[in-house]
Amino acid sequence: MDVKSIAVIGAGTMGRGIAYAAALGGYRTILEDMMPESLEQGMAWIRKAFDEGVARGKVEAGARDAALKRIETVRSVEDACREADMLIEAVPEEMELKLELFTLFDKFAKPRAVLASNTSGLSITEMAAMTFRPELCVGMHFFNPVPKMKLLELVRALETSEETIAACREVGRRMGKEVVVVRESPGFITSRVNALIGNEAFAMLEAGIASAEDIDKALKLGLNHPMGPFELGDLVGLDVRLGVLENLHKTLGEKYRPNPLLRQYVSAGRLGRKAGRGVFDYSEAKPGENKG
Ligand SMILES: NC(=O)c1ccc[n+]([C@@H]2O[C@H](COP(=O)([O-])OP(=O)(O)OC[C@H]3O[C@@H](n4cnc5c(N)ncnc54)[C@H](O)[C@@H]3O)[C@@H](O)[C@H]2O)c1
Repeated sequence: MDVKSIAVIGAGTMGRGIAYAAALGGYRTILEDMMPESLEQGMAWIRKAFDEGVARGKVEAGARDAALKRIETVRSVEDACREADMLIEAVPEEMELKLELFTLFDKFAKPRAVLASNTSGLSITEMAAMTFRPELCVGMHFFNPVPKMKLLELVRALETSEETIAACREVGRRMGKEVVVVRESPGFITSRVNALIGNEAFAMLEAGIASAEDIDKALKLGLNHPMGPFELGDLVGLDVRLGVLENLHKTLGEKYRPNPLLRQYVSAGRLGRKAGRGVFDYSEAKPGENKG
């Protein structure tokens, strides 16, 4: 299985980052989005990310120029499917959208093309069941922001073949990522562990064991986490955090029951940075600054 071209469906937060990494990895890259403005914004973001990479000395100017030449945009999933050896969908986290896309992929993609989803937690097995090639279906879970985050979590669905996993490993390697493989299960590796850490931090805050600032400081300086659990929760969105925990609670049991204080913050509309206030207050903070 020799992947030479990668099509990315959805040019939002993740899709544009995946297209950036694919082009830099030497792949012919095809980017598609149903919203023309998303596609334009995605391309503008990619150009800016490359320029920043050059400015920071992470990308050579020649590599940037060559990578940009490898990217093209198309206006339909059918067009994206035509030439690609691998399709990666990064549309919103709604199963119906993903099932629709996998049906289209199966219809229009090359017979041996790999069909991948960047889902944060939906079942790849269910997506694969829409196709006549479940052995070629796989989860490729990238992290935000894709150009900077080193990990690629490969999700093995019920019928994913070894050959498919091997092809994805190689793509990950060429994109400059470190690859881990996980059998399909709720939260994969990262979200499952992270959800528990975040929930435990809320339990300590609720019990008055320490302040939010000190809990964050302790995990950063004592455990070497790059961000504290509250800083991270506020960045991702506490509503998103709650949703992940609710799903883990439903599927994996009591250990994952969302802390009541987290629920209360979400009910109050304190969703994190995007709302101006989460555990911390961002109302007067400049972008990128944690007022605490
Ligand atoms: N944002 C993150 O931090 C993150 C991290 C890992 C995984 N994910 C997963 O990645 C996926 C995408 O998330 P995102 O944050 O990039 O979403 P986003 O909302 O930023 O982008 C989604 C894009 O898909 C486009 N789109 C919607 N329906 C489409 C369709 N039918 N065909 C083509 N394009 C379509 C939208 O116009 C939009 O540009 C989700 O499954 C999410 O769970 C997100």
